[in-house]
Amino acid sequence: MRLSRYLARAGVASRRASEQLILDGRVAVNGQVVRELGTQVDEASDAVTFDGAPVCIEDVPFTIMLNKPAGVVTTMSDPQGRPTVASLVPVREHPSLFPVGRLDADTTGLLLFTTDGDMGHALLHPSHHVPKRYRARVSGRFTEAAAERLRAGIVLDDGPCAPAQVRVVEEGRLPVVEVVIHEGRKRQVKRMFQAVGCRVEQLHRASFGPLGLGSLEEGRWRQLTDGEVRALMEAAG
Ligand code: URA
Repeated sequence: MRLSRYLARAGVASRRASEQLILDGRVAVNGQVVRELGTQVDEASDAVTFDGAPVCIEDVPFTIMLNKPAGVVTTMSDPQGRPTVASLVPVREHPSLFPVGRLDADTTGLLLFTTDGDMGHALLHPSHHVPKRYRARVSGRFTEAAAERLRAGIVLDDGPCAPAQVRVVEEGRLPVVEVVIHEGRKRQVKRMFQAVGCRVEQLHRASFGPLGLGSLEEGRWRQLTDGEVRALMEAAG
């Protein structure tokens, strides 16, 4: 298969971003850096590396959900040495496991990982609109007018957000607001609340598409069932 497709299937990056990595000379096949986009590789016999690290496609895709705790960053390795999600998932057994999207270090909740690059990129593609449900504990005055602005689709500095579902699920000094969004822009939920004069004090992702955490404890992971993988792929169109 084409090298860029191989990299995408292994979860390194989307097909287009993989082409740039090849052009940048960061990919080698059997020890030789290759920069030709048309390079073909045989997944059974060629050894592919990215920035010197082996890249492989697992024969049987492996997909899990983690109930991410606060205090770990969503990356498989951190140059600054901070605790990462890699310490919580079975990377030794599944070296090509990568997180599907990102939660901020202080955000808790449902984070998917897969070895299936095609599936990961499909789930993240903005045009596929997989709904994500968050619970935000907020400070500042969260009024019905603010909720309506979020429902209508608030404009952030990187463009308008799609209309969100918004409902207060716990009243009080720091109310808890449930928000369902279909995009996955950087710090999106926090920026949405900031835009209506509030601050997110705690953020938890309760579900991703058709999947919820159920009784999965914080810091633990579990493999998805075949039915759950099918439901996810249907949600991603
Ligand atoms: N929105 C945020 O602001 N942070 C997250 O971690 C996820 C969504």
